[in-house]
Amino acid sequence: MGNELNHLAIIMDGNGRWAERQNKNRSFGHEEGAKKVREITQYCATLGIKYLTLYAFSTENWKRPKSEVDFLMQLLAKFLKKEEKTLVKNDIRFEVIGDISKFSSTLQNAIDNLKKKTAHCKGLTQILAINYGSRNEILRAVNQAIKNAKELDEDAFSSFLDTHGFADVDLLIRTGGDKRLSNFLLWQSAYAELFFTKTLWPDFSTGELETIISEYKSTSRRFGAL
Ligand code: FPP
Repeated sequence: MGNELNHLAIIMDGNGRWAERQNKNRSFGHEEGAKKVREITQYCATLGIKYLTLYAFSTENWKRPKSEVDFLMQLLAKFLKKEEKTLVKNDIRFEVIGDISKFSSTLQNAIDNLKKKTAHCKGLTQILAINYGSRNEILRAVNQAIKNAKELDEDAFSSFLDTHGFADVDLLIRTGGDKRLSNFLLWQSAYAELFFTKTLWPDFSTGELETIISEYKSTSRRFGAL
């Protein structure tokens, strides 16, 4: 048995290095990364995990060269178009977090469409974090709360976050070797177990995920108590 795993969050790092190591363009790494998103999502659905949040594009990623940003936007558009069938077949609901108002109207419509088409799904919820940054999310929430002009408790504050309705993060994994959170789900990960692996995202496997989950299950989680 062990700890329940309701919400798994992943920082999918290392696409660029994975491609460069093979003397390929960074775009090739992102394409492989998108395939890995599909594989890991389907595996999580079979495990009975309720929420899977994937960091696909941060508020800071706009600083990358325009060609790479454009490629990531195209990849996202393709992904949104292609995913419906697989998601519905596997009873996976699609959601996003982040400020999507900065995306093109075509992309925003594709996001809304996929959310609607999968709204009835009852298994895993796959949540893509796009144009997402925790500080940005918290500030948007604070500004909303100020309009309400009422003192907040934790639950009331959480209700203003993009993640409202989702469970807190239980397990956060970062691939690619760096040990940092990079502005990802800072409020929601207050009591998350953190795992860092050197594996680059395109090389991440269901086997490695299984090993991490079994270590997570045997961890003693005390939430500040004894
Ligand atoms: C980090 O690798 C990854 C990203 C900035 C983008 C994540 C995108 C994907 C996994 C593919 C797209 C996903 C969807 C759902 C369409 P990096 O480029 O920073 O790698 P590096 O650290 O080796 O340079």
